[in-house]
Amino acid sequence: MNKNSLPTLYWDNNCLYLLDQRYLPEKTEYRCCKSYQDAVDSIREMSVRGAPAIGITAAYGMAAAAYEAVANNYNPAEMKDILQQAANTLIKARPTAVNLFWAVRRIENVFDQMQDAHQEEIFERLLQEAKAIHEEDINNNRMIGANGSELIPPKASILTHCNAGALATGGYGTALGVIRTAVEEGKDIHVFIDETRPLLQGSRITAYELYHDDISATLITDSMAGYLMSRKMVDLVVVGADRIAANGDTANKIGTYTLAVLADHHEIPFYVAAPISTIDIDVDSGDNIKIEERCATEITHFSGMAIAPEGITVFNPAFDITPARLITAIITERGVVCKPEREKIEKLFN
Ligand code: MRU
Repeated sequence: MNKNSLPTLYWDNNCLYLLDQRYLPEKTEYRCCKSYQDAVDSIREMSVRGAPAIGITAAYGMAAAAYEAVANNYNPAEMKDILQQAANTLIKARPTAVNLFWAVRRIENVFDQMQDAHQEEIFERLLQEAKAIHEEDINNNRMIGANGSELIPPKASILTHCNAGALATGGYGTALGVIRTAVEEGKDIHVFIDETRPLLQGSRITAYELYHDDISATLITDSMAGYLMSRKMVDLVVVGADRIAANGDTANKIGTYTLAVLADHHEIPFYVAAPISTIDIDVDSGDNIKIEERCATEITHFSGMAIAPEGITVFNPAFDITPARLITAIITERGVVCKPEREKIEKLFN
């Protein structure tokens, strides 16, 4: 947790509580997930979002499924069934962020090793694993922050996109973790925040986090980034990631690729900050990363009001792919990979 902000999620009294990000900054309300299906709905409806936070939610969602088995006195076969159902449904909740698959697999591995145990014991162990995933994420973000801050000059103006902060993770953040560490180290940092159409994670969530942490920041619309760069108002860009392919190609919020092209044109360093759990070593390149497409109303409507003619055709990809050649470095908890390529990325796993 950061200085002034609320926890992204926590488990209490056999229930997962998620800060409902659909309503930020207007309302700070927690959504209570009593079942794995509630966790699935919260991911789908984006009450919780951001790759690591989605993964942690899925892990707790698996624990919620185990608790359902305990509460309903299921036999071992029924418990296995509900956990399988939970895993299959959770991994379909959103397709791009690989942390979701990674976290579910990690919980499944624990379950596989204890199928002869008593239901209550299985639940306790799965919950413990979900809590470990949550804790590790916060620690990893601190390390990403420390590794990334070494790349930040004593005085810097940093552009970020979407929200890769405490609220997109277990806490502290990846891209915002780098920014937070630089500020904690006494660097003179100013952040430009892209508002991030269509769901405005930049203005609603990143601006909320930085404002409450007293970090100097200015909100801009997405279309202003090029102008700022041309005026030498941006020293570097740092963003998060939803999935990084083995060759370094990176899927992140739609608009990230545009920023990377602009940064390249203006010779501005472009950094991706992400935990190892966001790297999908089984996917060769960005061409094979599935990009989520979301509903038209996210673009045609604002706060329930139509802002486009009814019936207009809409294309709404939620993410894009930034090719590795446009990325100056990928910052992970295990170190910084400059000019990312397959061989260097594979070394992170040794
Ligand atoms: O659609 P969202 O809000 O889940 O997209 C989030 C992003 O694109 C983040 O940049 C990414 O998940 C990294 S979060 C540390």
